[in-house]
Amino acid sequence: MLKKAIGIVGTGSGIPEQVLTNFDLEKMVETSDEWIRTRTGIRERRIAAPHQATSDLAYEAAVKALESAGIAGDEVELIIVATITPDMIFPATACLLQDRLGAKRAAAFDLSAGCSGFIYSLETAANFLAAGKYQTALVIGADLLSRITNWRDRSTCVLFGDGAAAAVLRPVEEPLGFLSSVLGADGSGAEKLYLPAGGSRKPARRETVEAEEHYIRMCGPDVFKFAVRAIEEATLEVLRKADLGVEDVDLFIPHQANVRIIDAAAERLGLDRERILVNVDRYGNTSAASVGLALDEAVRAGRLKKGDVVVLVGFGAGLTWGASVLRWAY
Ligand code: ACO
Repeated sequence: MLKKAIGIVGTGSGIPEQVLTNFDLEKMVETSDEWIRTRTGIRERRIAAPHQATSDLAYEAAVKALESAGIAGDEVELIIVATITPDMIFPATACLLQDRLGAKRAAAFDLSAGCSGFIYSLETAANFLAAGKYQTALVIGADLLSRITNWRDRSTCVLFGDGAAAAVLRPVEEPLGFLSSVLGADGSGAEKLYLPAGGSRKPARRETVEAEEHYIRMCGPDVFKFAVRAIEEATLEVLRKADLGVEDVDLFIPHQANVRIIDAAAERLGLDRERILVNVDRYGNTSAASVGLALDEAVRAGRLKKGDVVVLVGFGAGLTWGASVLRWAY
């Protein structure tokens, strides 16, 4: 429980225009629309234009979120960008965004927690606000996984898409806002999902490029098993902490990696499909953007009303996981 009620007061998305369908992928690697749909639930994903970087999509999402909250850029005091594909290793993408938004007073940093990044960042920002340090925070999940995807590796390239999503956080009236949260990590699984080269362990060199070590490496079946368990356990724990049960949840928004992961976790939790937001069919796995994109879609589709109980849950590289329960604030 936070010391002060903090909630989300606006959301927005930045989605590239270019659509890459499963049929397009059939022309690129040995795969089929049928395989991708039945194994993942994905039909298409969006791919950023060559001139776009993570901060460009993040900016679009941020502007829309601020607009929906009725807040000007210079009112923002904290910007956190969750990403594993920053524009460059440094400075932080959040700083680039701070400049473009004219958020002159804002502290700005990036946060790396893979696909759990949006939830890690919400929790971080909410605690800064609850402590009274700031009044207005902007959280963005943004990734261009297309830039670190090996387009010759069919076991990964069919899964990912590009996108960004933002949320504005402010103090709200009790009992609205964040009710409880869970964050977790298990670094022993680091190499289940990682990018081998380009960091200090293995700096970018001709040999690392030739060995294709600047692309995502993933052990899909292990991540699958971890994900189902992580969603179930994190959801039960976060609800218990909020003194709520699965029956109290109005909308469940899981990380959108694979519809089979969502279905398996939902079955274990006893959650019916009507209460789950699924959009992986249209965007694939957008990493740190995924939970925020789904949340923004729910808001814009009118699926959330003031007082509704929303569960956000994510899992990803690290390995990491996180969940939040909110009573929707508007
Ligand atoms: N098209 C056709 N065949 C394929 C493809 C493809 N795109 N990809 C793999 N195959 C083949 C494999 O080669 C294998 O063939 P074989 O049996 O002859 O060896 C067969 O399909 C089965 O492969 P599996 O990997 O066992 O397939 P599985 O049913 O486990 O599905 C998948 C693979 C979709 C990757 C699944 O394991 C998964 O979703 N895992 C979780 C991934 C995930 O959530 N990652 C994101 C984490 S979040 C983050 O931080 C980015």
